[in-house]
Amino acid sequence: MDYKQLVADALAPALPDLSKDDILSKIEQPKTSKQGDLAFPTFTLAKIMHKAPQMIAGDVVEKVDQSQFEKVVAMGPYVNFFLKKDAFSADILNQVLTQEGHFGDGTLGAKGQVPIDMSSPNIAKPISMGHLRSTVIGNSLANILSKLDYQPVKINHLGDWGTQFGKLITAYKMWGSEEEVKADPINNLLKYYVRFHKEDVDHPEMDDEAREWFKKLENGDEEATHLWSWFRSESLKAFKKIYKRLDIDFDSFKGEAFYNDKMAEVVDILEDKNLLHESQGAEVVDLSKYDLNPALIKKSDGATLYITRDLAAAIYRKRTYDFVQSLYVVGNEQTNHFKQLKAVLTEMGFDWADQIHHIPFGLITSGGKKLSTRSGRVILLDKVLDDAVSLAHQQIEAKNPDLNNKDAVADAVGIGAVVFHDLKNERMNSFDFNLEEVVRFEGETGPYVQYAHARAESILRKAGSPELAADGQSLSDPAAWDTLKLLSEFPATVVRASAEYEPSIVAKYAIHLAKAFNKYYGNTKVLVEDDELNARLALVKSVSIVLKESLRLLGVKAPDEM
Ligand code: ARG
Repeated sequence: MDYKQLVADALAPALPDLSKDDILSKIEQPKTSKQGDLAFPTFTLAKIMHKAPQMIAGDVVEKVDQSQFEKVVAMGPYVNFFLKKDAFSADILNQVLTQEGHFGDGTLGAKGQVPIDMSSPNIAKPISMGHLRSTVIGNSLANILSKLDYQPVKINHLGDWGTQFGKLITAYKMWGSEEEVKADPINNLLKYYVRFHKEDVDHPEMDDEAREWFKKLENGDEEATHLWSWFRSESLKAFKKIYKRLDIDFDSFKGEAFYNDKMAEVVDILEDKNLLHESQGAEVVDLSKYDLNPALIKKSDGATLYITRDLAAAIYRKRTYDFVQSLYVVGNEQTNHFKQLKAVLTEMGFDWADQIHHIPFGLITSGGKKLSTRSGRVILLDKVLDDAVSLAHQQIEAKNPDLNNKDAVADAVGIGAVVFHDLKNERMNSFDFNLEEVVRFEGETGPYVQYAHARAESILRKAGSPELAADGQSLSDPAAWDTLKLLSEFPATVVRASAEYEPSIVAKYAIHLAKAFNKYYGNTKVLVEDDELNARLALVKSVSIVLKESLRLLGVKAPDEM
């Protein structure tokens, strides 16, 4: 049942001058339950009716049909509605118990396809904490969108093309060896790359050679192609291990290189539309009317650029998926790049350019400092996950040494903690990474939410895991009220998270629900034989279902015991 609608229906006869929609749009949720469950403010009416808001509130209360509510009262300028707890609880528990994990599913997306460009690390470099954000935010958005009946397409736009590969080949030919690369590919390739950047300062001829190698690669030279594809496949193997640990999969690994033969068309369209101008030997698109720097499409030596490949990719995705939205989960520092991308597509005459959305996010720092591959200041994701799992192990050992499947649970808790921590921060906020904080069982952490879920499951086990009828489970206990109301807010929470592309909305919701449930559980004896025992168990079961589903949307597992 829609409770706003119920309130609007009751108000309508008392407010003949307002339309139903008008009334609906004004209904609010009061700050505390003491002020009722829903409230209607009368300020705006005061002007139209030339009456004090308090008086209007009083008059309205006299006129509304109160039979559907516990009570309706005027409080200052508000008309406050108190819902009937037994009917409300029976209704919400019925919904959750019958729909289970599908509670909150929606039809908003109408099966429209939504490519999500996510993770997209660079070949021959370790996947870093920075790419973790893109990976987990993108994955969670995919889960949230698919719950609302969109069809997300998770695309890993690998950084497998560009002048850096000229540098890498040059460096490999100078200092590298096949044995070294085979033994530890990513670290050794990174070592060559870092050394290149140290030495090219005094040897600018190295940069010429690197440009030469990249040219060769673009033209399909055999040696260059062979080295490049070897570096790529070794890197991809290492990336896939991490994705497996995070339990995240992709629908496509078409990276930048895939667009090598699709850029000529982009350049042709730009030429046809007279959009390319020469600037210092390079080809650029002027974007001054968008207040942006010119987009550099081709360098003076003819080499294409990052944005040229993104133009080809955007067009390819529109043709392949006929998307309703196309998302790019990429750090805040690339905001300008995506503005340019949209602007060039608009100039090219593609009206779908406004379906493209850059979903930016803030930086992860360590000890307050920025991370960077070139300087060697990196936090290696693999290591972070190992450490998180071992911290989780320690806590399980301390709290519940007899637990079955300790390894699997420690994995779910440690990795879940890292993912949850990343997602509970509003994505634009930067944050400092501190592992001890992330894996705590108390406070606003992933393990805290997982623990609330496991506790709910343990209560149900103690009760003998009863079959609970979905119908007629009404709870009059006021202590259950906050938890019940939160359960009812889950569907709207999912919609809001999708509209704002903000998984943190779901993460914060999960924390609130876990807190409300812990409070309820702390004050109430659930397992007492009385008339409401089954209704209380229905509440516990519903909390377990919704916590698990919230965690699933974030890409975090919910063990039944921990
Ligand atoms: N490989 C890039 C990087 O690590 C991110 C690519 C983002 N996606 C895109 N279509 N530009 O910075």
